[in-house]
Amino acid sequence: MHSLYSTANSVLSPASPYAQNIAHLFWVTFWISMVILVLVSAFVIFNLIRYRDRERSSELPPQTHGNTIVEITWTTIPFAILVVLFVLTVQSMEAVTPPKHPKTDPVNVDVVAHQWWWEFRYPGSKVVTANELHIPVGKPIDITLTSVDVIHDFWVPELGRKIDAVPAHPNQLVIEADKPGVYLGTCAEYCGAGHAWMRIRVYAQTPADYQTWLAGQAKPHPAPTSAAEAIGMGYFDGKCAECHNITGSGGSKGQDVGPDLTHFGTRDTLGAGVLANTPADLRTWLENPQAVKPGVHMPNLHLSTSQIDALVAYLEAK
Ligand code: CUA
Repeated sequence: MHSLYSTANSVLSPASPYAQNIAHLFWVTFWISMVILVLVSAFVIFNLIRYRDRERSSELPPQTHGNTIVEITWTTIPFAILVVLFVLTVQSMEAVTPPKHPKTDPVNVDVVAHQWWWEFRYPGSKVVTANELHIPVGKPIDITLTSVDVIHDFWVPELGRKIDAVPAHPNQLVIEADKPGVYLGTCAEYCGAGHAWMRIRVYAQTPADYQTWLAGQAKPHPAPTSAAEAIGMGYFDGKCAECHNITGSGGSKGQDVGPDLTHFGTRDTLGAGVLANTPADLRTWLENPQAVKPGVHMPNLHLSTSQIDALVAYLEAK
């Protein structure tokens, strides 16, 4: 399997004004801490050498008790440093929190966390997808975040802050990407067996590319063009549609127990990042999802080879 995770994925490679602000706060705090570390270490080492017991005497050196100037100094300096860090932190918190009134023309996305995958709903266009979030570059994206089960945490370090996804308590988040690319993220709150495979891929596109993608996603799944695809659609309607939706299939009831698979064939990954989305990897997944992603709520359906062939043909059609 080729690597799906080759880009930076670090708070230290910010790609948005929000992440820039967080990285700046990190570096200011880091360098203040480094100066303290060096000064304290140098002072300790100096005193160890300068005042070491050269004569190996058994007597204590002169003892000093109470020194007002020293005590005032070692109280006020740390206090002043903490005040500076506090003010900088509060400023950053303000800067990376969504405005009360969204900026003009936001591209709103509703993010719904599930054990263990992400549902992305674009209310303006009725598009629903999973695990791979597409956004246009250069504009703030207002995200409303909830969960259907336990507490999760949405975090794409290069694009913005992280924030919990809490059942029945919508949280607001704003992310932005300066330039096109794929930005990686993950669930950052332990949420059960599948927590490690609850990855996020954000595809930042030029506004034109984004509109093209959105228009494609708004269409139904292409009608079967081969016998295998038609058989696959039959299996899907009879079995998979109990949990998954494919707009354009006969049997879908809009279920979102599992990820929406209408345009599954256009995604790069499956199982929230556990495998690449290739026919071979999809086959591996369908043979026994539990073996690929232990704990996943999709059961082993004990599908036959011919059933898997048909489902792969149908699901991968674009
Ligand atoms: Cu969802 Cu950890």
